[in-house]
Amino acid sequence: EKAGYEHFMMKEICEEPKAIKDTIGPRIKNGRVVLDDIELTEEYVKNIGKIHIVACGTAYHAGVIAKYIIEKTARIPVEVDVASEFRYRDPIVTDKDMAIIISQSGETLDTLFALREAKKKGARVLSIVNVVESTIARESDDVLYTWAGPEIAIASTKAYNAQLCALYLLTLELAYKRGCMSEEQYKNIIEGLQTIPDAIEDILGNKGAIQRFASSHCNVKNIFFIGRGLDYALSMEGSLKLKEVSYIHSEAYAGGELKHGTIALIEDGTLVVCPVTQDDLMDKMISNIKEVKARGATVLAIARESNEQVHKVADEVFTIPDVDPFIAPVAAVTPLQLFAYYMAVVKGCDVDKPRNLTKSVTVE
Ligand code: M6R
Repeated sequence: EKAGYEHFMMKEICEEPKAIKDTIGPRIKNGRVVLDDIELTEEYVKNIGKIHIVACGTAYHAGVIAKYIIEKTARIPVEVDVASEFRYRDPIVTDKDMAIIISQSGETLDTLFALREAKKKGARVLSIVNVVESTIARESDDVLYTWAGPEIAIASTKAYNAQLCALYLLTLELAYKRGCMSEEQYKNIIEGLQTIPDAIEDILGNKGAIQRFASSHCNVKNIFFIGRGLDYALSMEGSLKLKEVSYIHSEAYAGGELKHGTIALIEDGTLVVCPVTQDDLMDKMISNIKEVKARGATVLAIARESNEQVHKVADEVFTIPDVDPFIAPVAAVTPLQLFAYYMAVVKGCDVDKPRNLTKSVTVE
């Protein structure tokens, strides 16, 4: 079943290029996004008041990325909530709102109840789900399936990349139908998405460097992830992946928040992981890297090939190909997943079945 891999988690990371191709391939026709499995008329899209994205864990982190990209391009206000908060906080939802529910399994209890809450309040519900005909899929007005295939390892990997792809396609559709995106921008994003599978193949080909770095840093007690913009959202996912499989304490912070407290925790040898893929925030992140290094941190950066400035300041860089910064998270998450995987393997943890966790949380 593991097709020669030692763990499902590694098998599933290696399946990411296929998961992405299967999720976007059938939905791009002649250079245009075609979401014929869902109903998004121009009139409906133009009248959306607000979008509520609700999910748990990794799916929630995909939702945080979506907030940045939808607001930036489609200019629709987006709120992202973890499902267990949304369902009990009496959220303000109207019948002009759209709810986007994200779930790999389609069975997470809090997410299902959040869906019902959004529906009860009048929102139209679109879900992004991996398991066909799951409860969440059945109860939604529209379903945009991720075609990642079965995910067995408890740590979600390929489902996240596929969720992001579905969210990018949806964003393109929203932005285009609202007249907020130029043909050129639209075309660049589509073409960029089509290059991601190869970019991930490239990253997978260099995984030895990540394994070596993990082997020599597996005794650390704390790891901080810092990033800005999309890299902040990505940092949350990198941190969750690491803690759930390797049991190393880690936290994710927005780079700009460091000075507001976190930097007090940095001491000699503290490992700080910095995804730095956003050109417009590059200088700010370089300053953050210098600040933590000045206090003794060892910095591991995830950067695109051409980001030479990062290579100059970080102690170690996991390089990813030069994908467009707007879609970079889809590829930049892979080195973070591999890092978590190797840290867990080196520490002898039960990678596919971390303690205390289940694949799908169907109780409260
Ligand atoms: O099946 P779902 O996507 O609804 O699951 C949500 C979370 O339980 C899930 O992403 C969890 O956080 C994973 N173990 C993360 O790797």
